[in-house]
Amino acid sequence: MILVVGANGMLGQDLMSLLGDRGHGVDIADIDITSPESVLEVIGRLKPTVVVNCAAYTDVDGCESDPETAMAVNGEGVAYLAMACRENGALLVQVSTDYIFDGGKGTPYVEDDAPNPLGVYGESKLAGEMNAAFSPEYLIVRTQWLYGLHGKNFVETMLRLGTEKDELAVVDDQIGSPTWTVDLSRAVIALIDGGCRGTYHAANSEYCSWNGFAKAIFEETGLNVAVKPMTTTELNRPARRPLYSTLECSKLTVDTGFHPQTWRDALRQYLKLRTSKTL
Ligand SMILES: NC(=O)c1ccc[n+]([C@@H]2O[C@H](COP(=O)([O-])OP(=O)(O)OC[C@H]3O[C@@H](n4cnc5c(N)ncnc54)[C@H](OP(=O)(O)O)[C@@H]3O)[C@@H](O)[C@H]2O)c1
Repeated sequence: MILVVGANGMLGQDLMSLLGDRGHGVDIADIDITSPESVLEVIGRLKPTVVVNCAAYTDVDGCESDPETAMAVNGEGVAYLAMACRENGALLVQVSTDYIFDGGKGTPYVEDDAPNPLGVYGESKLAGEMNAAFSPEYLIVRTQWLYGLHGKNFVETMLRLGTEKDELAVVDDQIGSPTWTVDLSRAVIALIDGGCRGTYHAANSEYCSWNGFAKAIFEETGLNVAVKPMTTTELNRPARRPLYSTLECSKLTVDTGFHPQTWRDALRQYLKLRTSKTL
């Protein structure tokens, strides 16, 4: 059985749908990953062969003002999961982020590139990556710019704003790959089924700026919104973000045969599905 921790989150819900009978989901009401007792009890009782950790403190700006919670959930929580996996002989799959990089490389990041997080969220997720290695069997899957049917995300924000305004300013100096949680779930399952271990990057292919992503969302939905450029400095958010954090995903493809579709094709599929709310 594959235990999905954080099963009520945006990624967790799509992963559970794709796993079907193979999956068992738990979230904060069933397990608190900041408590070693809670983690040991749940994993010891359910005895999964694989634990996929989709639970996290994902409010990037919130992490700046609450670093203790960020480290407790994203860092120490992974250590407790890894130790419980070690005790029970399970594989730990830890979902991580491009925010462990500083975005200064200028070309897509490969798995072995040196991390250098710019903010508390990235630091705490990097601690989580290191703590995953407490389990002899672990897999780290780094991804970026997630959106899915079951969570607050950029696509939904743009669609809401697009019905309220006819002009928006969106940052055009952060570059990455918008990634649909369904495609990330497919990649995670391919990595598990392929017996992969170690660190992998998984994102939809090709890249754009947030500004380009917003324009695509309005083009695909026929909303008539002018999308103006703005800089990250002008947006002035509490957390610094990497400017160029595209992830090179060829290791995933070589080792599993899984080819992530382009972000634009994924967006089209997402927009078709979002009215039905089912996969
Ligand atoms: N979203 C992105 O753009 C993005 C980008 C790169 C990587 N990632 C990574 O992808 C993974 C999934 O992200 P997501 O956007 O799907 O996250 P999400 O929607 O915020 O879901 C996280 C889930 O974890 C739960 N949780 C929080 N603290 C917990 C605890 N102490 N014990 C147990 N469960 C807890 C949350 O419950 P509550 O809602 O009740 O707090 C929520 O159900 C995370 O590892 C994230 O770091 C996300």
